[in-house]
Amino acid sequence: MTELGGWTVTWPPAPIRTERLVLRESEARDRTAFIELFASPEVGSYIGGPRPRDELQRAVPEVPGRRPGLFVIDLDGAMISMITLDRRNAERPGHVRPDAGEAELGYMFLPQAWGRGYAAEACAAALDWFAAVLPSEPVVLCTQTANDRAMRLAAKLGFTEVERFEEYGAEQWFGVRSSLTPSG
Ligand SMILES: CC(C)(COP(=O)(O)OP(=O)(O)OC[C@H]1O[C@@H](n2cnc3c(N)ncnc32)[C@H](O)[C@@H]1OP(=O)(O)O)[C@@H](O)C(=O)NCCC(=O)NCCS
Repeated sequence: MTELGGWTVTWPPAPIRTERLVLRESEARDRTAFIELFASPEVGSYIGGPRPRDELQRAVPEVPGRRPGLFVIDLDGAMISMITLDRRNAERPGHVRPDAGEAELGYMFLPQAWGRGYAAEACAAALDWFAAVLPSEPVVLCTQTANDRAMRLAAKLGFTEVERFEEYGAEQWFGVRSSLTPSG
């Protein structure tokens, strides 16, 4: 058993297979895709901007992102994305529990994998896994309202609006999904 933001879970789970994708733990062969994700101006548009590639080359470890709650999304043997389930920082605005510390879903897909429904397919599977291991925990999600794709994805996954607020100089949409909400 392992700690995921203070929850005890079995990690990593066996690879999760969906119709087209596999959700798995990261491996050394994913390093280039991790660097690509963080260096991509398109991916970074609404999440703080891209990071310099040379800085990433120095900073990204040999096996990046190997931690509880982080799934690599694999399409035909290559990484196209990472999905995270972490505890939301209690200091940030946006909470649904009186004591804060909710599970929060995050997702970043390489631009060449956008527009094919992969994000919806992979996030639904990650949420199903989370609901199975921690059934009473709601999952929250926060995105800039200007991030049309992320807003559409949140609605598709069954997240409903709790509130909107300003943060990082932009309007943020904050939503919640009960684990009792069926995915897909
Ligand atoms: C947010 C993000 C994951 C959304 O990716 P996406 O590919 O648009 O999301 P989906 O998987 O839901 O795909 C939706 C599109 O696939 C299309 N599609 C094509 N084939 C499909 C299929 N077989 N099944 C379902 N949808 C399909 C849908 O019609 C839809 O198109 P539309 O966006 O033009 O309406 C992606 O834009 C991203 O990684 N952005 C950068 C990081 C980021 O901003 N993350 C959010 C932080 S809060």
